[in-house]
Amino acid sequence: MTPTKIIIDTDPGVDDALAFLLALASPEIKLEALTSVHGNIGIEKTTRNALAVLELANASHIPVARGCSLPLVSALNTTGDVVHGSSGIGNSKLPEPKSQPIEQHAIDYLIERILAEPNQISVFPIGPLTNVALAIRKEPRIVQALKELVIMGGSIKQGGNASPLAEFNIFADPQAAHIVFHSGIPITLIPLDVTHKCLLTSEDVEKLNKISSPIARFVRDATEVYMDFYRQHEIFDGCALHDPLTLATIIAPELFTFEEHYVDVDISTGISTGNTFADLMKISKKPANMKVAMDVRGRDFINLFLERMETLSRSISE
Ligand code: BDR
Ligand code: CA
Repeated sequence: MTPTKIIIDTDPGVDDALAFLLALASPEIKLEALTSVHGNIGIEKTTRNALAVLELANASHIPVARGCSLPLVSALNTTGDVVHGSSGIGNSKLPEPKSQPIEQHAIDYLIERILAEPNQISVFPIGPLTNVALAIRKEPRIVQALKELVIMGGSIKQGGNASPLAEFNIFADPQAAHIVFHSGIPITLIPLDVTHKCLLTSEDVEKLNKISSPIARFVRDATEVYMDFYRQHEIFDGCALHDPLTLATIIAPELFTFEEHYVDVDISTGISTGNTFADLMKISKKPANMKVAMDVRGRDFINLFLERMETLSRSISE
């Protein structure tokens, strides 16, 4: 089996950090790099967190390229700390990373890597789409060269989590999402409709912590604040593994039900800005522009995530 080469474009973020750990624990995946973006917290902290989590997992050889600090048009969203804590990674106290981001800007790094290996690299944007949109605008040839985008974002049949109508990653830069959705790049969308079915519970985390490991402890410390948020707002005892679920498209695609749809995003400045909507009844006759995950076997994904975290925890014990 040749592992799939991926670059994760990310705003860590508790669930972003768990996505890196899942990628590193999965032989089906070769994590080539992380590119950071504003989002759950400011760019300084998202970049620092990316480096710190890689060091935690003994993976500081993986490059981190720092990306955009601001969305294209809308104001910077600064609400993420309520969900992810003021550090961006909950109550975890990771040491200051020894490694530095590479010199190159994330946009240039993405362009260079994608053009160097046509149809070999998949990009997984799990934060606002600013870096990806600007990479498309700066070098349109990446549209043909990129294998695919697997995007965590949007909400198709549900409401939102950043506004009543919009999901956070899209709400944080709707114009960027508009550029990406209309780019012609093959897209798989992992919206709230499926991520809200993938709930990691405090019992799961306690069980994982029977293994004495900095990884298991990180999963516990990072998710505490995140779980509190969900208890208060969404009334479930656990937290949604939004970003890690994108990787199941490689590791366990059989868990999903996919449909091809035309999906667009509201970029007006009204109440539904950032709302993603699918033409489910094919009324517009516009061709589908993405594959959308409409359903998932959520508990099976959580069990898979826990198995991989157990293996990683055993390999990096105290
Ligand atoms: C998305 O928003 C962020 O808070 C999470 O990291 C995830 O990428 C879920 O709406
Ligand atoms: Ca994220």
